[in-house]
Amino acid sequence: MPSWEWQAERWLRWARTPGHDAYWHYREAFFASIVPEPGRRTLEVGCGEGRVARDLAHRGHRVVAVDASPTLVGHAADADRDGDYLGADAAALPFRDGSFDAVVAYNSLMDVDDMPATVAEAARVLEPGGRLCVCVTHPMADAGRSAGPHELWCHILAEVVTPAPDGP
Ligand SMILES: C[S@@+](CC[C@H](N)C(=O)[O-])C[C@H]1O[C@@H](n2cnc3c(N)ncnc32)[C@H](O)[C@@H]1O
Repeated sequence: MPSWEWQAERWLRWARTPGHDAYWHYREAFFASIVPEPGRRTLEVGCGEGRVARDLAHRGHRVVAVDASPTLVGHAADADRDGDYLGADAAALPFRDGSFDAVVAYNSLMDVDDMPATVAEAARVLEPGGRLCVCVTHPMADAGRSAGPHELWCHILAEVVTPAPDGP
């Protein structure tokens, strides 16, 4: 099972709760200062339920988005019928060399199993002069309390998204 599949429904709730995480505060700066103007074709790797891809499309990008979790890809496609969403491993992308002029990895590189292979794949599918646009969680400010990055992120996700048993 892809590593995020078991947390897919929780991630859906997390990502679709407006204002819930830093995305809602960082996204304008990310799109304005890191992502280039819309060009030929933009790939998002690790799109989750699709909020970044939808925001890219809203800003004029022709987006293809991939994620390893079939459940999240399904939710992304349901939320954006005109979008192009695909189940794929970011470390083995099903695209030809030079297919994109921008690749966006928003909070996904710290979650993939093989980061070097993922970055190499992003480079392969970028045309010469293309741009890889990355945002990752800060290892201490955003994610600082556990043995390994994956366990840590899932721990935080479970802690914040799961209502406390004695909560309101
Ligand atoms: C923190 S979420 C970010 C989702 C989205 N970019 C956002 O910011 O809302 C990380 C995503 O990376 C995906 N992911 C993890 N490993 C992956 C891999 N090897 N290939 C593709 N996607 C992967 C997970 O399924 C998850 O949806």
